[in-house]
Amino acid sequence: MITAKTKITGIFGDPVEHSLSPIIHNEAFRHLNLDYCYLAFNVKREKLREAVEAIRALQIVGVNITLPHKESVINYLDEISDEANYIGAVNTILNDKGYLRGFNTDAFGFIQSLKEEGVNLQQKDILVLGAGGAAKAIVYGVLKEGGNVYIYNRTISKAEEIKKRFSTLGTIEVLKNLDKSFVKKIYLVVNATSLGLKENDPMPINPTFLNKDIIYCDIVYPNTKLMKETKRIGCKVIGGLGMLIWQAANAFEIWTKQKAPVERMKKILNKFLTKR
Ligand code: ATR
Repeated sequence: MITAKTKITGIFGDPVEHSLSPIIHNEAFRHLNLDYCYLAFNVKREKLREAVEAIRALQIVGVNITLPHKESVINYLDEISDEANYIGAVNTILNDKGYLRGFNTDAFGFIQSLKEEGVNLQQKDILVLGAGGAAKAIVYGVLKEGGNVYIYNRTISKAEEIKKRFSTLGTIEVLKNLDKSFVKKIYLVVNATSLGLKENDPMPINPTFLNKDIIYCDIVYPNTKLMKETKRIGCKVIGGLGMLIWQAANAFEIWTKQKAPVERMKKILNKFLTKR
């Protein structure tokens, strides 16, 4: 029951109405009997500063930040973690008695979703498709795990920027073209482009390059053409729901200092998505 003592958490974004985070977090609070709730707030770009100030004014415990605010929100925080600083984006804020700390839990979420599938990136060659906001968290995560990153993007200059940003963390190369014999030697291909969000999108990689010995990961969820096609030919395929759950689990722990009930969070998400 929501009472006068209930602590508030939530998410700021625009659009935000499609967010699955309220379902995941509210279930976790209920399950652990924590007197918290999680709400979605539609925050327009020009209102972001005021919305962040409201975290202090209303003593909101913490919020997630989603598109289009992950980068600009940094300007309004008191401190950001090393990870968030490297990635250049914040997706979680903790209100520490009026002092606002920013974190990025996306890289952790991505890596954890691979680990639970038994995927170890140490010294492996990873091809990242895309060079937008999502790609940055993924590249950071892969390099931290000791993988070698090859990055391919429609706009090469954006891939070059990512290389510059992360080159001190490990091996990272920009590919100007994708070549079938090169792709064949890759261990894991990650789709970090937005291709797959729409029904009629082409695949982010030439379909003739698909190979059953490669692992594929698509951070777009739930089921893209790339995922369907790679599953069909017998590849190991990892979707974006794991990353969603694990970034949420990490944020939950930052706010509540309690271990997140991950299995419960997964269960409610699957239930919600199969009902829809
Ligand atoms: P996000 O924050 O979700 O990563 P983004 O920053 O807009 O979103 O990045 C989208 C990524 O998808 C970019 O790498 C983009 O390529 P460009 O840098 O060339 O724009 C990629 N992308 C989007 N539409 C694409 C398309 N039709 N073909 C190839 N790549 C595409």
